[in-house]
Amino acid sequence: MTSFWIRPTQAGDMDAIAALNDAAFGGPDEARITRRLHGDGDSLVSLVAVGESGILGHIEFFRIRIDGEPTGVGLGPMCAWPGLQRSGIGSYLVRTGLEDLDDLGETIVFVLGHPAYYPRFGFSAEAARPFAAPWSGPHFMAQRLREGAPASGTLTYPPAFS
Ligand SMILES: CC(C)(COP(=O)(O)OP(=O)(O)OC[C@H]1O[C@@H](n2cnc3c(N)ncnc32)[C@H](O)[C@@H]1OP(=O)(O)O)[C@@H](O)C(=O)NCCC(=O)NCCS
Repeated sequence: MTSFWIRPTQAGDMDAIAALNDAAFGGPDEARITRRLHGDGDSLVSLVAVGESGILGHIEFFRIRIDGEPTGVGLGPMCAWPGLQRSGIGSYLVRTGLEDLDDLGETIVFVLGHPAYYPRFGFSAEAARPFAAPWSGPHFMAQRLREGAPASGTLTYPPAFS
């Protein structure tokens, strides 16, 4: 059993987060996106899972505009250290992040990811279907967090994803 705790990302974490993303995704794209989200001020909630040996997991939530208004949130990138995957790190990061978004009063979260993974946290492709985005299909999912969430609209992602 891996022992870890979750805390907000701190400024000095960025190199360790980049190394983790590079290892988990096998390339530099997600680390570059994460640095850009932070550099541009587009990161909304950023969390790391920390264990005895350092940072073991990471998740980003960023602002998405819906019809030009800052009313949406995106999840990603997220990852767990390759040797420690499937030990609960990702699940804790997602659940803690969703609680933080709820505390902030956010209403809807989108994710582009594994269709077998995110539904367990409440995401569905059906909830994302009314929204126009650069992507569609079973990997594109959403979760409404509360009443009053936009029901449809056109999504604009931050420049980190362009
Ligand atoms: C996807 C990822 C973040 C999940 O984190 P994790 O800490 O390994 O996941 P957890 O231990 O919380 O959850 C384990 C469950 O997720 C499932 N799971 C893990 N990776 C999965 C994947 N790629 N597709 C579908 N299910 C996956 C496991 O089967 C397990 O399911 P079970 O509980 O029914 O047995 C992690 O595997 C990872 O970093 N993968 C590489 C990078 C990546 O793909 N990031 C996500 C981009 S959308």
